[in-house]
Formats: sequence, C-alpha cells, structure tokens
Amino acid sequence: MRKQIVAGNWKMNTTVPEGVALAKEVAAKAKNLPANVELVVAPPFTHLCSVAEALKGSCVGLSAQNCADKEKGAYTGEVAVDMLVSAGCNYTILGHSERRQYYGETDEKLVEKTKLALSAGLKVILCVGENLDEREAGKHFEIVEGQTKAVLFNFTAEDMKNIVIAYEPVWAIGTGKTATAEQAEEIHACIRKVLASKFGAQVADDTTILYGGSCKPSNAKELFAQPDIDGGLIGGASLKADDFIAIALAF
Ligand code: PGA
Repeated sequence: MRKQIVAGNWKMNTTVPEGVALAKEVAAKAKNLPANVELVVAPPFTHLCSVAEALKGSCVGLSAQNCADKEKGAYTGEVAVDMLVSAGCNYTILGHSERRQYYGETDEKLVEKTKLALSAGLKVILCVGENLDEREAGKHFEIVEGQTKAVLFNFTAEDMKNIVIAYEPVWAIGTGKTATAEQAEEIHACIRKVLASKFGAQVADDTTILYGGSCKPSNAKELFAQPDIDGGLIGGASLKADDFIAIALAF
C-alpha cells in the first residue's frame, strides 16, 4: 500500500526561533498519529539544522523547499543537495508553482535538480499544477500531464520509489479557494494513468500523490477520502501545529 503523507510547506515564513518552536510543537503532537501517516515539514534553508535538532527522536521528516541545479562550486546564493543532506533533510520539494512563476524554474532545470536530489539520497516532492487561465481554457489535464511527463519521464521505475507528486492547482494556492474533491481526484487519477503508461500499473499504484492548495482541517477529510489522493502539501495551515496535525488526522 502506498504511503500517506502530509507535508508542511512553510514557504518564506517564521524566524529561526519561531520555526524551532513550531517544529517542536508538531513533533510533540505527532505522537498520536497513525503509523501509516508520514508527517514532513519544509522550513526555509536557514532553519534546517536547528529544526533537524528539534525533530530529533520524532517521526517527523525534514524537507527543503528547493535545491540547486548544480552539485557545488561558484553559484552564489544557491544550496546544494549534499548541504541539505548534511543539514538533516530527507526530502526536498521541487517545482513549486511559486518557483516556476517567480524564479524561472523550468522543467529542464527540474530534471537536473531531481537527478541531483535522488543521487544524494533525498526524496523529491515534485509539484505540478495548472494556473487559472489554463483551468478556464479547459487545459488542466493537458498542462498537468505535460509537466509530469517533462520531468518524470527522464527517470526510472526504481527512481519513482523516491518521488512523491503534489498536484497543486495554482488558483487554489493561498487563495482560500480549494479544488473540489472531484476536481482534485480527476487530476490525481489522470497523473496515475500517465505514470502507468510509462512505468507500469504497479509503480503508478505505489506512487504517493498529494493535493495542495488551501487544504485545511475543514476540507482535508473529503479530499483525503478520494481513492487517488494520498495526503496533502500544506502551506498556510502548516504554520499552526494544531491545524497541521488536524489535517494529518483527517485520513
Ligand atoms: P496553501 O499553499 O495551503 O497556503 O494554499 C499550498 C502550497 O503552496 O504548497
């Protein structure tokens, strides 16, 4: 059975002490979660070492929000995958729509980043999702299928064991406007079909696909009840430990 994951994307929020306090609260409250639900937090780079320390002894995973597309060297301001591993990360988010939109993240770069992350032993949470114009033009399946293929078709079935997909419709991120459970489920089912066409039914069936975009305690239950939705990538609601845990309890 595939893993159920609830990951908190803190984005550019919290100072280091605030982040450490939040991580400690999440770790303490995570004790009551069912064993098949994995919790992950993704703080900013500056917080990783301290948050790793705060999470020690807990079952909460640690993710970066991005990584460099180069191994090391003269790339001012970038953070390499080896650095993330040495800071205590076991995951990195890649291809978040905010990175695609504001920082010119392309599918080509994402292929490089994913290769580096996997070779360093990190698991990847790859984000895909259409924007409002694309949704209104009825192109959402096409866009998500295209993004999924452009990155993941460069990898093997073996690699897919360490890749999680997050479907995040851009129009639902931070807007309070969640995709309905049906809208999310039909895209998740489509992604699984795309994976099956390349890697076979078993790999498609084993891949965790998360939903992200204004997911909160009040709508998580309905979303997570869908057959192809295996958890969530949570932005705003992951900044409050109680909400984040309540979402994880929604399975
Ligand atoms: P949101 O963000 O939950 O605040 O909508 C989700 C995300 O961008 O990962």
